[in-house]
Amino acid sequence: MSFTPDDALDLLFPAELIPQHVKDELPPDLHIRPLASTDYERGHLSVLSVLTQAPDVGAQAWAAQFNSMRGGGAGGVPATYYILVVVSRETDRIVGTGGVFIERKFLRGLGSVGHIEDIAVAREMQGKKLGLRIIQALTHVSEGVGCYKTILNCSEANIAFYEKCGYEKREVEMAKYA
Ligand code: ACO
Repeated sequence: MSFTPDDALDLLFPAELIPQHVKDELPPDLHIRPLASTDYERGHLSVLSVLTQAPDVGAQAWAAQFNSMRGGGAGGVPATYYILVVVSRETDRIVGTGGVFIERKFLRGLGSVGHIEDIAVAREMQGKKLGLRIIQALTHVSEGVGCYKTILNCSEANIAFYEKCGYEKREVEMAKYA
């Protein structure tokens, strides 16, 4: 498939929110942009499967989930979901992804917190600073929409990666799986 430019896609959020310096620092054969409504076809789930189970839910269900995350960001209604992808210009396939969702609070004078989630880089593309660029872009988005902090949960094995991205270990995660 030939590379699809941003203006030919239906994007989850405005591409301008991704900082230019992150775009410039990517290798020239790669492009970073918001998730698009047709990214099911570009291997979005396959990249996520390096992180955890990401079974093929089918194009229709994938698109319904995309549509449920869209909205806001215009007419004074703030958006909640900012998911981005790194795409190969050669193949138009997704090689990396990550997201931040914005939690709005009553405390801290109606403050917001950015939660970084689901960072994944295709195995053959790991170690090329794509993870770092994804985190830089998501942190910029989070801070750009006014979050007073950006947080994430990770395994012990990934602590060093996030430290290289400027994050530090704070507090403890608790979980209860259904
Ligand atoms: N341990 C120690 N250092 C690491 C690790 C690690 N596990 N991973 C990367 N680094 C270092 C790199 O060596 C590099 O250091 P340098 O600047 O000194 O050269 C720096 O961190 C940046 O690394 P990137 O090349 O940007 O890392 P990559 O593109 O491989 O992405 C990621 C890292 C996202 C963890 C990737 O390996 C991956 O997809 N892993 C499988 C899925 C996963 O674990 N995702 C994170 C889940 S946590 C969450 O989603 C919030």
